[in-house]
Amino acid sequence: AAGDQANGQKLFKKCSACHSLEEGKKKVGPSLYKIFGATPGQVAKFRYSKGMTSYGATGVVWDEETLDAWLTKPKDLVKKTKMAFPGFKKEQDRADVIAYLKSLSE
Ligand code: HEM
Repeated sequence: AAGDQANGQKLFKKCSACHSLEEGKKKVGPSLYKIFGATPGQVAKFRYSKGMTSYGATGVVWDEETLDAWLTKPKDLVKKTKMAFPGFKKEQDRADVIAYLKSLSE
């Protein structure tokens, strides 16, 4: 089903332990300000894993497809990632969070 932004905003509480949505505000993870549509590993002054930098260098952007793979199991998409989050098991939960992030990039 299509992503439900409002539910995605609720689910984002699990992300906000490590991620701000404010531009330039670093936590354990990089700010996710306008992350939908962005190239992976490009937030200024954040020290990414080598894997994330390499992933961004492949020419991908964060979109429905790449974010779905990332949020299914981060370490399967990016080797030795620093993101200590196991992923969302439910496809609908991922779709909801992605819809929320997308709405913030529009
Ligand atoms: C990286 C999303 C939960 C820590 C990222 C990136 C995204 C993301 C899109 C890539 C950012 C970029 O390319 O600039 C999310 C979402 C979460 C979540 C939607 C909730 C479902 C968490 C949690 C933590 C965390 C709970 C901390 C325990 C990190 C770190 C990175 C990262 C350290 C950098 C990874 C690396 O360099 O390999 N996250 N994240 N994230 N996240 Fe999360």
